Amino acid sequence: MTVKFKSIIDWNDVSETLLEKALAANMALKDKTSPGNDFLGWLNLPEKFDKGLLKDMEETSELIRGNCQVFVIIGIGGSYLGARAVIDALRNETSPEILYAGHHLGSRYLEELLEYLKDKEVFLNVISKSGTTLEPALAFRFMEEFMKKKYGKSRWKRIIITTDRSKGSLKKAAEINKAKTFVIPDDIGGRFSVLTPVGLLPISVSGLNIKKLIEGAGKALHKCEKKEVENNISLQYAICRNHFMNKGRNIEILSSFEPELHYLGEWWKQLYGESEGKEGKGIFPATCQFTTDLHSMGQYIQDGQRMLFETFLVVRKSKYKLRIRKNKKNLDSLNYLSEKTLDYINMKAFEGTLKAHLEGNVPCNVIEIDELNEHEIGELLYYFMRSCGISAQLLRLNPFNQPGVEAYKKNIYMLLKK
Ligand code: PA5
Repeated sequence: MTVKFKSIIDWNDVSETLLEKALAANMALKDKTSPGNDFLGWLNLPEKFDKGLLKDMEETSELIRGNCQVFVIIGIGGSYLGARAVIDALRNETSPEILYAGHHLGSRYLEELLEYLKDKEVFLNVISKSGTTLEPALAFRFMEEFMKKKYGKSRWKRIIITTDRSKGSLKKAAEINKAKTFVIPDDIGGRFSVLTPVGLLPISVSGLNIKKLIEGAGKALHKCEKKEVENNISLQYAICRNHFMNKGRNIEILSSFEPELHYLGEWWKQLYGESEGKEGKGIFPATCQFTTDLHSMGQYIQDGQRMLFETFLVVRKSKYKLRIRKNKKNLDSLNYLSEKTLDYINMKAFEGTLKAHLEGNVPCNVIEIDELNEHEIGELLYYFMRSCGISAQLLRLNPFNQPGVEAYKKNIYMLLKK
C-alpha cells in the first residue's frame, strides 16, 4: 500500500548536473538552507505533529459534526484547495454537507447559498492567513450577517476562525467575539498548509481520519530524506519535470481518470503555478480530466505543438463494483464487455491513452496510488510539496513567495477606491 512513481524516461539521458543539483536541492531543504527557508514549517510537520492540536481539531470537529447540517468553508487559494482536494477525493459520507464560499466573487452562487442555508443548521470555518483577502473577507461579511440573523449572539459558537497567530482583522474579530480559533503557523504559506488546521479541521469535519493523513505524509517525509534517487518520489518527479523542460517541454498536464481527483489537480496547479511561475520562468501546470477531456483536449495532446509533457495520476484499486451485464438483444453491441467492471474499462482507457501519447511523442510520468485512502493521499500531498521545493530550486527560484499575485490586487483596490 504505497504511492509509486514511474517515468518513461531514459535515465542515462538525464545529465549528471541535473541529478547533482536535485540531490543538493533536496538536502538544502533538509538542512533548511534553501531560498525562502523561513517558510519551511511544513517540511517536518508530519513527524512532530502537535498531539494537543490534533486532539483539539478532532474534538472541535466532533462538536461540529454533531450540531450541524451544513459546514461552510470560507477561503481561497491555499486556504481552501487542500481541504477540498482531500474531501472530494476520499469522502463518502453525506453528513454534514460541506459547501464552500469566498473562492470567487460571483453573486449568483453566494445569493443561492444564503437562501439554501436559511432552514439549515450551519457552522462556518473562515480561513485566511492575512485576514485581508477580498474574496473570503466579503463572503464572511455576508455569512456573518446571515448567522447574526439566524443565531443572534450565539453565532460565535458556530464560527471557527483559522488565521494568523497575532495579526489581521480576522484575529481581531476572533478576540473580540471569543470565537474558537486555530492558528496558521508563521512559517507555512497557504499552498503548503494542507497539513495544518487550514486543511485538517475541514477534512476532519468531513468525517475523514486526519491522523492517517498525517501518517501517510510522515511516510513520504521519511522516504524523502534519502540521498539516493531510488525510492524518493519527490526527487524523481522533480528531476523528470526539469529534464523534460530542458528539452523544450514547458507545459505539464496532470491527467487523471477519476473525476473525484479534480480538486487534487486544482490544488497541484496552484502549488506549482504560484511556486514556480516567476521571473519569466516555470513549467506551466495544466490539468486534464480523462476520459472526458480525451474528447476535447485529446487531439491537441496527441497531435498538436510538441511543447507538453504529461503526468498521469492513476488509482489501481477501487471499492466500487459496477459491472456490465450480458444483454440478450445486445443492440448496443457491448456484450463483448460482459462481466467486466467499469473500473477495468477505465484502467484500459488509461493504458490505451498512455500508449497513444507516448507514440505521439509526449514524455510521460505515471504516479500510481494503490487505493484512495487517507494514508496514500497524505503521502501524495507530501511528495508533491517536497518535489515543488526541489524543482523551484532547480529553476533558481524561491517557491514560497507570490509577488505576482499582488499586481491584480493593487489594481482592483485602486478601481474600487479603497
Ligand atoms: O498560497 C498562498 O499563499 C495563497 O494562495 C493564499 O493561500 C491565498 O491567496 C489566500 O490568502 P489568505 O489565506 O491570506 O486569505
